[in-house]
Amino acid sequence: MCGIVGYVGPRQAQGIVVEGLRRMEYRGYDSAGVALVVSGPEGHDGGTTVATAKKAGKLANLEKLIADEPMPAATTGIGHTRWATHGAPNDRNAHPHRGDTGRVAVVHNGIIENFVELRDELERQGHVLLSETDSEIVAHLLEVEVLGGADLTTAMQRVCCRLEGAFTLVAVDGGDPDRVVAARRNSPLVVGIGEGESFLGSDVAAFIEHTREALELGQDQVVTLTRDGVDVTTFAGEPAQGRRFSVDWDLSAAEKDGHDWFMRKEIFEQPRAVADALLGRRSPAGQLQLDEMRLDDDELREIDKIIVIACGTSFYAGMVAKYAIEHWTRTPVEVELASEFRYRDPILTHDTLVVAISQSGETADTLQAIRHARTQGSKVLAICNTNGSTIPRESDAVIYTHAGPEIGVASTKGFLTQLVACYLLALYIAQVKGTRYGDEIDQIMRQLEEIPAHIDTVLAGAEEIYTLAREHVGARSVLFLGRHAGFPVALEGALKLKELAYLHAEGFAAGELKHGPIALIEEGLPVLCVVPPRGRDQLHEKMLSGIQEVRARGARTICLAEAGDDKIAPYADVLIRLPRVPVLLQPLVAVVPLQLFACELATALGHDVDQPRNLAKSVTVE
Ligand code: M6R
Repeated sequence: MCGIVGYVGPRQAQGIVVEGLRRMEYRGYDSAGVALVVSGPEGHDGGTTVATAKKAGKLANLEKLIADEPMPAATTGIGHTRWATHGAPNDRNAHPHRGDTGRVAVVHNGIIENFVELRDELERQGHVLLSETDSEIVAHLLEVEVLGGADLTTAMQRVCCRLEGAFTLVAVDGGDPDRVVAARRNSPLVVGIGEGESFLGSDVAAFIEHTREALELGQDQVVTLTRDGVDVTTFAGEPAQGRRFSVDWDLSAAEKDGHDWFMRKEIFEQPRAVADALLGRRSPAGQLQLDEMRLDDDELREIDKIIVIACGTSFYAGMVAKYAIEHWTRTPVEVELASEFRYRDPILTHDTLVVAISQSGETADTLQAIRHARTQGSKVLAICNTNGSTIPRESDAVIYTHAGPEIGVASTKGFLTQLVACYLLALYIAQVKGTRYGDEIDQIMRQLEEIPAHIDTVLAGAEEIYTLAREHVGARSVLFLGRHAGFPVALEGALKLKELAYLHAEGFAAGELKHGPIALIEEGLPVLCVVPPRGRDQLHEKMLSGIQEVRARGARTICLAEAGDDKIAPYADVLIRLPRVPVLLQPLVAVVPLQLFACELATALGHDVDQPRNLAKSVTVE
C-alpha cells in the first residue's frame, strides 16, 4: 500500500515526481504529497532547504494545491500517495513528514511496529510530533543524526537498525541538495537508472516514461541516489548490490489508451495477455518447458503434496489450480488463504511444494506465508506478474505470468494469466511425473492456445453485458452460483461486484445452496449461474437442478452457458453464451462477462472503478 517516488537529476523534479505519483496512485489514494529540495531564505549549509506540499484525498487535490500555491524550482524531490494505516486520511497525516527543524523530509510505505516506543523516546527528548502516523518518527530520528553531523546515507543506515516492521523509506535533506536516500525491508522499492539522473518508485511504472533500466533492491538495503549514479549498502553500511534488469514493457502499457478505466482496458487486453502467458512454453520438439522455473525435474518428482497459498482473486486462481493439478497429476493439493496459513501450524515437509500466487508479488500475507514454509524446509514456487518484486525473489522457483502492468485495483488480466500459469504448472508436473501422455498434454496446450480467440468472442458481446449491468443499478444483492471449476469463478464474480459496485454479492457452490443459502432467494433476486459444459460427471445436470430450484423461488436467473447448450434456455431469464471449452479451462472464458458486468455496473453507479473506496492494489501490510 502507498506509492513512493523519488528523483534526482538535472530536470525539474516536481513534474517528474507528480507524474510518477499519478502512476503510483493505484497503490493508495487517501492523500498525496511531495517534498522538494529548494533554494531558500531559510537554507541550510548550501543555501537550500526542503519545501513540502501535501493534501488529503486523491492526487488531484495536491495538484490543485500546487497550482494555487506554486512550489519553488528544484531538481531533487520525493513523493507519496497514501493508503492509511495509522491515523485518519487527513492533511496532517499525509506524507512527507519532517523533523522539528524541517531539514529532513521522509515518505514511508509499510508499518513500523515499534513506533510507540520510539515516539515516546522522542517526546521525552522534547520533540514535537504533529501527526498520528508511525512514519513521522523516522523524520525526527533522521534529523537528529543529520544535525549530529552524519550524512543522510549514514543517518538512514543507523535509523533503519532501530526500526522493526515493514518499511520503504525515502528521504531528502535540505542541507544536501543532490541526494535522495532510500531503504527497504519487507516492502517494495525499485531504482530507475537514467543518463545523469536516477529515479525511485514502488514499482517501475513510476519511472518507465524516463528509463527502462532498473535495479531491484534486496532486503535490508539502503540506496543513495545522486546525479552520478546509485550506491547500495546494507543497513550495517557494508557495500551491497542490487539486481539490474530491463523492463520489457513501455509507457503505453501504463496508459488508459482511450478507455475510461484501466480496468476496462485490462479486460480487453486479456486475449493478448493470455497469449503472452503461453508464449515460449514449448520446446521445438513440442515438450512443455518452463524456463524461468528454478526447480529441477528430480525435485518435482519427489513432491508428494502441494499447498497453494494466495489472497483475494489470486486465491480463486489457486482453487482452479487444485482442480487442474489433482486431475492431471494425481498429486494432492490444498488451497489456503495466505493470511491463515502459518497460524494453523500446517504440515510441511521437504516433499511439500508450496505454490504462492500473487499478481503484485508484494502481498504481505503471502510473503509471510512463504517465509514460514521455507523455514519448515518446503520448496516455494511463486506465480507472479511483477518482475523485481519480493515474493519471487524469496521463492525457490518462479513462473512469471507476463500480463504486463495491471493498474486497475480489481484484478482481471492478472487473474487470467495466473490461471494459465497454474495450468502450465499442472501440465509440467504431469509431464515430469508421467501422469499424462505427451499427446494429451499437447492437446490441452492446443486448447489453451485457442483461448485468446475465445476471449475475443466473449468481448465481442460486451454491449449485451453492459446493458444487463445497467439494468441492475437498483439491485441490493446479487448471488453467483458455480460448480467444480465454475465455483471459484462464482466467487470471483461476487468479489468483483463487492469491490467495485459496493454491492452485497455472494458466490456459492451450487450444490451447497440447499444447505442454507437458498433461504436468501426472494422474488426478483438476480442469480448469475456459471453453467459447466455438458458431458462430464453429471455436473451439467446437477447445475440445471440448482438453477431450477432458485428460479422456482422467484430468482431471476442469468445463465452463462456454452454455445449449443439447448437444455439451459427454459430455465434462464437471461442467457449469455460462452465459447465451448473443456470444463477445466472454462474459468478463462466464464469470468470475462462477470468482469464486464461489475465494471459497467460500478460505472453506472458513478463509482471510481480503478480506485474503489478503502482498497489499494498491493496490500503490503498484514
Ligand atoms: O497481488 P496479489 O495477487 O497478491 O493480491 C491479492 C489480492 O489482494 C487481490 O487479488 C485483490 O483481491 C484484488 N483487489 C481483487 O480484484
